[in-house]
Amino acid sequence: MPTPIDLPAWQKLKTHHAEVANLHLRDLFAADPERFNRFSRQFGDTLIDFSKHRITPETFDLLLELAGQAEAPAWTKRTFSGEIINHTEKRAVLHVALRNRSNTPILVDGKDVMPGVNAVLDQIRQFSEQVRSGAWRGYTGERICDVVNIGIGGSDLGPKMVCEALAPYGDPNLRMHFVSNVDGSHIVDVLAKCQPETTLFIIASKTFTTQETMTNAHTARNWLLGTLQYESAVARHFVAVSTNVPKVKAFGIDTANMFEFWDWVGGRYSLWSAIGLPIALYVGMDNFIGLLEGAHAMDRHFHDTPLNDNLPVILAMLGIWYDNFFEADSQVMLVYDEYLRSLANYLQQLDMESNGKSVDRQSHPVNYDTGPIIWGGPGNNGQHAFYQLLHQGTRLIPADFLAPVHSQSPIGEHQPILLSNCLAQAEALMMGKTEAQARAELQAQGLSGDALEKLLPNKVFAGNRPSTTILYKRLTPTTLGSLIALYEHKVFVQGVVWNINSFDQWGVELGKQLANVLLPEIRGDRPIGVHDASTVGLLQYCRG
Ligand code: F6P
Repeated sequence: MPTPIDLPAWQKLKTHHAEVANLHLRDLFAADPERFNRFSRQFGDTLIDFSKHRITPETFDLLLELAGQAEAPAWTKRTFSGEIINHTEKRAVLHVALRNRSNTPILVDGKDVMPGVNAVLDQIRQFSEQVRSGAWRGYTGERICDVVNIGIGGSDLGPKMVCEALAPYGDPNLRMHFVSNVDGSHIVDVLAKCQPETTLFIIASKTFTTQETMTNAHTARNWLLGTLQYESAVARHFVAVSTNVPKVKAFGIDTANMFEFWDWVGGRYSLWSAIGLPIALYVGMDNFIGLLEGAHAMDRHFHDTPLNDNLPVILAMLGIWYDNFFEADSQVMLVYDEYLRSLANYLQQLDMESNGKSVDRQSHPVNYDTGPIIWGGPGNNGQHAFYQLLHQGTRLIPADFLAPVHSQSPIGEHQPILLSNCLAQAEALMMGKTEAQARAELQAQGLSGDALEKLLPNKVFAGNRPSTTILYKRLTPTTLGSLIALYEHKVFVQGVVWNINSFDQWGVELGKQLANVLLPEIRGDRPIGVHDASTVGLLQYCRG
């Protein structure tokens, strides 16, 4: 089995990189009036412009050749057909089944998963409509006004991000809260805004064993019972989303109020499952279905489209170009859409928990870089914080710009100002400012001689800093569904090329194990055990 770096296309890309690495995007644009048309695509009403990448037509072809040689299309088909591709956990990877709106059978171990998927969707519809209409009441007969989702990682980031993103579609009578951190301040702050009689808790945990979530869940239960007193109140105020029936029962939640999902849904890919219950509650089931439909449309595109028009493949291969050939360490998300303010956090887990691996599918250490560091946040705010490093720092950081053409909250000149900033930043990163331009500007300001020469280097922007710009007309549930699925498949294709398993997360286990050892030592229930001197010193400080 050849490693990715032994593939002929990888080798060709290496040689090609040496030839094109110093080309400047300014010159590439000047030389090719067709560059934007050549290197942009539309998906529905979403425009994806990747012309500001340091590629030539030959680079593009070679990157797609690499995707082909890594068998990206074959892996896609294997995944969509329910094959066990998560080999270390012996699981299929079928988040696409959760949004399979064509309802064609998808078999896992010879059994069609679609009837189960549809049954849970019906259960979500029924429950969310009851809560939204006021038919579902709290223990004392009052309407539910606050919904508190208790979960962490994939059981938090996805539904939180989507509820924020679709706020304009939200029910104004429901306040949504997300508690994830085991730091007591998180739940204490949220509970201070809620009344037990009118609050619904969703305990969201695939395993129902996650320490942070279970600690918060017990605190919430005690808080509720502190006022409502009777255990029977729990059934009106707690529902669970999990794959673990026995643990849900043991917590005291009626399994009639449990929403099931399956081990073939990875945590960070689970917002399409019952983990999306807060979304359905907040924006209504029809809008939740809109989200699934948008993702399904992207799934079909990804499954059916040849590589040179296949958006997840294109974005994945551009990422690999920088990661493995330019040796870029990170990728920044610059989001010019206030409602998508948590997108970077969400993508961080999606990408870094999936592709932060150093062992390949054959369990050999890899000798090439895998997943990059994903970071970023709201665009304009970033301009006044970290963009300095993007423009003039020493590192190459490819960027994704995202922006809606139409605001969900049109007011005054805000949207044109937002959009002009977004487009200007992408242009500035790419074009830069030459020494001659900077000199002319300084001269126009009346500077000359030594003063000018001293200041000049600070005013030069090298440019040639690559970016993708994704513009959509308006952030609808369908658009959002397609966007998220685009990134999911991008991460998948990169994992295929790097020959790693993007669907396990063994790297989170060691810290959990050690925390269990340290807990009784922090509490003082057990003498300090054998640790390194640093950990002992820190423990002693904690114990006072
Ligand atoms: O510890 C990492 C992780 O397993 C993530 O993969 C997952 O999304 C998160 O914890 C929460 O897990 P659970 O839904 O089982 O509580």
